[in-house]
Amino acid sequence: MNKITIAIDGFSSTGKSTIAKQVANHLGYIYVDSGAMYRAVTLYAMNQGIINKNGFDVETLIKKLKDIKISFKFNKDLGFAEVYLNGNNVEQTIRSLEVSRFVSKVAAVSAVRKKLVAIQRNIGKSKGVVMDGRDIGTVVFPDAELKLFMTASPETRAKRRFKELISRGDDVVYENVLKNVQERDYIDSNRKDSPLIKANDAIEIDNSNLSLEEQFEKVLQLVGIALEVS
Ligand code: DC
Repeated sequence: MNKITIAIDGFSSTGKSTIAKQVANHLGYIYVDSGAMYRAVTLYAMNQGIINKNGFDVETLIKKLKDIKISFKFNKDLGFAEVYLNGNNVEQTIRSLEVSRFVSKVAAVSAVRKKLVAIQRNIGKSKGVVMDGRDIGTVVFPDAELKLFMTASPETRAKRRFKELISRGDDVVYENVLKNVQERDYIDSNRKDSPLIKANDAIEIDNSNLSLEEQFEKVLQLVGIALEVS
C-alpha cells in the first residue's frame, strides 16, 4: 500500500500529538513531534544562559546552533519516539511551563526554523510519517496528502494543559496556563517566518466537544480517503 504524509497543525494544546501518535501507531508510520524540537532548542538556550532573566541573546543562539544535535529514539514502552538533545533524553524536561514560556520566541528565529525544518524534511523524505506542529502543511510538507488543522477554544486547551501539568506534579496555576496558551497563540500566529495559519487544503477539526475516540474515527476516515486518492 502507498505511504502518505500526514501533516497535523494547530494551536497549542489542541491534542495534536495524542491523535498523531494514535494514527501513526495504527498505520505503522513514524510520528514526529516537531514542537518538541523547538522546545529542545529552547531548553538548550536556557541551560546555556542564552535565555535568562535579563532576556534572550538571539545572536549567541544563532552562533551556537551548530552545537545543537536533536534526535529521536523510539521508546517501545511508550510507543513513540522521545526527543534527545545532544544525546540526553529531554522528553520530560521540555514540557515544563518554563520552557513553554520562551519557546514561541525561539521558534520565531528564522535560523532556528531553517535548521529544524531541514531535519523534519529529512525524517519525512520516505513518507509514512505523521508530523504535528504549526507549519507542517504550509512549509515543511506543502505536498502532504492529508493536512489537518486542529482547533479548540483557549479555555478548553488551557484546561487540558493544566491537567497534564498537575498530573506530572508541576505546581502551576490555571490562570497562568491560560495566559501562556493565549500568548503562544498570539506569537505563533503573528510571527513573520512561517506563522501558524491553516493551509488552504487543510481540513479543520474543532475538537472542543469531541472525545478521543470520535476524533480518531474521523481522522481514520480522512486517512482512508487520502490513501485512496494518492
Ligand atoms: O506543539 P508545542 O506546543 O509543543 O510547540 C511548542 C512551540 O513550538 C509552539 O508554541 C510554537 C513552536 N512550533 C513551531 O513554531 N513550529 C512547529 N512546527 C512546531 C512548534
